[in-house]
Amino acid sequence: MRRSFYIKAYGCQMNLYDAGVVKEILENDGYVLVDQENEAKVVLLLTCSVRNHAESRALGRLASLKRKGNGGRIVGILGCMAQNFKETLINQYGADLVVGPDGYRRLPELLNNCLNNQPPQICVQLNEECYEGIRPKPNGKVTGFVSIMRGCNNFCSYCIVPYVRGGERSKNFDDIIKEIEILSRDGIKDITLVGQNVLAYQKNGLDFCELIKLVQRIPDIERIRFITAHPKDFNQRVIDTLANLKKFCQGIHLPLQSGSNQVLEMMNRRYSREEYLQKIELTRKLIPDVVFTTDIMVGFPTETEEDFAATLDMVQRIRFDFAYMFQYSPRPQTKAINIKPVVDPKIAHKRLEHLIEFQNQITKENNQALINKELEVMIEAHNGKQSIARTRTNKIVIIDKIKPIGEITIAKVIDIRGWTPIGEIKNEEQEIK
Ligand code: 5AD
Ligand code: SF4
Repeated sequence: MRRSFYIKAYGCQMNLYDAGVVKEILENDGYVLVDQENEAKVVLLLTCSVRNHAESRALGRLASLKRKGNGGRIVGILGCMAQNFKETLINQYGADLVVGPDGYRRLPELLNNCLNNQPPQICVQLNEECYEGIRPKPNGKVTGFVSIMRGCNNFCSYCIVPYVRGGERSKNFDDIIKEIEILSRDGIKDITLVGQNVLAYQKNGLDFCELIKLVQRIPDIERIRFITAHPKDFNQRVIDTLANLKKFCQGIHLPLQSGSNQVLEMMNRRYSREEYLQKIELTRKLIPDVVFTTDIMVGFPTETEEDFAATLDMVQRIRFDFAYMFQYSPRPQTKAINIKPVVDPKIAHKRLEHLIEFQNQITKENNQALINKELEVMIEAHNGKQSIARTRTNKIVIIDKIKPIGEITIAKVIDIRGWTPIGEIKNEEQEIK
């Protein structure tokens, strides 16, 4: 079909949200989403530039789509790589369409040109776009994501995001509230506020703390989460607000990146290990059942064995429930590409393996400690005869029984299979008592 499209998103939560924005824009223009790539006239790859590996995967995908060269299919590169590579994607890699993170409103017009046999189309202007008024459909029956801000001003020295997604800007709060109200009318009960650094939210004199309190007032929303929070902005006011917010789910993703003060400084993170630890301790005091997850990087230029040991020490002290762990990848335009000495990639890889093993053991132990605990879960989906539920702390629990989607109930963890807690719903009699 001439106006059918397929979209594949790589990378972070923002990209998954943006895939919803793109779908909405194209569907409003009469395009039909198909779930098989080979049935689509238009194939869109929504790409990520945070690490070299993500870019190589997308370029490989683009090359194989172009090799097939079938029947005038249009292949478009959207997202961060479009912004990073610009016309090279057309000239060297044969893309038919290149659109950066701020250009999606122009997709109908650009695609129309492609379909009318015009030369490859490109739009890579950054223009403070927030996509107000575009409301992506929810990704699940009861969970939804809402972008509250875009871009980043922090310029961590390793990170390409400020260059490819532009500076920080916040969406109007009434637009955010409207978007959540619409989702809640569609049955969404668990909402995640997303942004590169949600704590930097600032619009018409309203900050993140005030925004999240407004979200809490929306009647049918039962659970509120957010990603991602920068530790430097995670302060007493935020912690106090969260501690008093009934609907806030006690899982906080707080990227640590490194446990060494020297490395943190080189990264331009603007906090020390001591400050980070203090914030964790204060939160644990005020929100006793809080769970922390994080991002950690190894092999940043200048990182010594001592620095790496300091990272392991933080992991040991904090006992994150889960961590995304990466090997440093030099990125164009960033300050860190000029920092010397670089760490031998083989050594960095060894450190990564060591870190993963270390953290995974902690994740396992934290999960084991859930056995016999009674946790509030919401049923999100079914898988055969099982229900898939989520705890307030963002853990998936499998329940060997079909319960209605959206139901919030108490499950007792009876086992851990692999990594996943298995839960049993307390029987009805107990529930009545
Ligand atoms: N190399 C490796 N990891 C990176 N990240 C960001 N930039 C880089 C890079 N150049 C990681 C950080 C960030 C996560 C989204 O990706 O840990 O928190
Ligand atoms: Fe990148 Fe730092 Fe901004 Fe996160 S806060 S997107 S790591 S520059």
